[in-house]
Amino acid sequence: MSDPVSRRQFAKLAGLSAAGVASPLEALEVKPVSPPRSGNGFPAGFLWGTATSSYQVEGAVNEDGRGASIWDKFVRIPGKIEDGTNGDRANEHYQRYKEDVALIKELGCKAYRFSVAWPRVFPDGDGKPNLKGLDFYNRLIDELLKNGIEPWLTLYHWDLPQSLQDRFGGWRSTETCKIFGDYAAYVAKHLTDRVKNVFTLNESGRFVYFGYGIGIDAPGLTLPQAEVNQIRHNSALAHGLAVQAVRAHGRRGTRVGPAENIDACAPAIDTPENVRAAGIALREMNAGYLNVIMTGKYTDAFLKFAGPNAPKYTDAELKIISSPVDFLGLNIYAPQHYVVASDQGAGFMPLPIPKSFPHMNSDWLRVGPETIYWVPKLAAKIWKTDAIYISENGTSSDDVITADGKIYDTDRIMYLRNYLAQLQRATTEGVPVRGYFLWSLMDNFEWVYGLNKRFGLYHVNFDTQVRTPKLSASFYRNVIANNAAGV
Ligand code: BG6
Repeated sequence: MSDPVSRRQFAKLAGLSAAGVASPLEALEVKPVSPPRSGNGFPAGFLWGTATSSYQVEGAVNEDGRGASIWDKFVRIPGKIEDGTNGDRANEHYQRYKEDVALIKELGCKAYRFSVAWPRVFPDGDGKPNLKGLDFYNRLIDELLKNGIEPWLTLYHWDLPQSLQDRFGGWRSTETCKIFGDYAAYVAKHLTDRVKNVFTLNESGRFVYFGYGIGIDAPGLTLPQAEVNQIRHNSALAHGLAVQAVRAHGRRGTRVGPAENIDACAPAIDTPENVRAAGIALREMNAGYLNVIMTGKYTDAFLKFAGPNAPKYTDAELKIISSPVDFLGLNIYAPQHYVVASDQGAGFMPLPIPKSFPHMNSDWLRVGPETIYWVPKLAAKIWKTDAIYISENGTSSDDVITADGKIYDTDRIMYLRNYLAQLQRATTEGVPVRGYFLWSLMDNFEWVYGLNKRFGLYHVNFDTQVRTPKLSASFYRNVIANNAAGV
């Protein structure tokens, strides 16, 4: 409360409560209204959810026989994590999962996206499974179902067993891909009696480049471009093997698809030429992963651009990679490229983004709500899919607890309102987006930022583990109750 602005804000809040005005959280208690008129909200049955990932929330890294992951090792390298913290304890979700499921229910969410920690189930990545580790997910899934929440499971959200890194160089080797397929088969066999939807790998686009290209994520390597391209290819192969494993070992009807931070392209100005160019850009900018998954081919432009650094592959691998998926999961946070038509090259030109472009609390998180309209619309068209899920969207915020013990994250609400309005615009036009997972249910261990960035609808005090709903939790509850973005 030391700066004059916060002092002024506090004075105002204090004035309100002295005048007998209820605090916003109380005032906003959601009273579900009658269902929105058609065309006035999201389609009936639209799936509302929230998301987390294992290393970011579970903690309990030495509990019940869990093996080490590459993140356990990476966080201990001095200087790698901004605030020097790690995920040893994180949100203690491993112990507090029941409390956390109650929070999801409180929002009115019908789905929860979580990830399985591979080294909990196979401490060495392969070999003997650890039943105690698997049992945690049995308990979590049962608790979700008991509360009317569908479990949406991610097989890989970056916590690779360290043993696979040590023995095979992690994703540098197709050995890891094969072992991933076996792990996927095991999870599918044991959990798809209750889990009906499985995401394969979370964000190849990030963990390959950040982990093996520029060394800012685990395992912290800086390899030449040719190897990075090969590793990206391996991640696509791992995805395909997992799709096949789920089909072969999961209960009939289990659905499976990727969850990718698609390189998000949008037309700079909405003209037919630019929209067409943005579609080409989306295909080409995602040629190394999503496009090859969806079409079974690396594009000519991609191969030409990569030149001698292009991945080596066989036709048999392309077949596996492009095993048909049931849905496309897209993590959409920020615009990557605003595009105009061009008569040069592949037919599009990405424009430089000015320094003054507005962003949220995380500097990478540019504010471009129309991205969540254009990207699913263009993706549905170029890849002919009829089921898209927004597997992540959300923002970090300063999230200061004010003197009255509340968190007035109006910036997060602004961001969500604008993105959801654009998503509603898309579904109203018939773009086949079937659901939305807000990142994140609660503040958690944000990788290189440590505990410094807060993405949650619930604030977490990492000393006491107390969870406190932010104002945005009321906002999201209201959106869900009304099945409408509320603009
Ligand atoms: C996504 C990840 O890239 O963005 C999440 O799937 C992550 O795991 C979120 O927490 C926010 O990213 P960051 O880099 O700001 O922590």
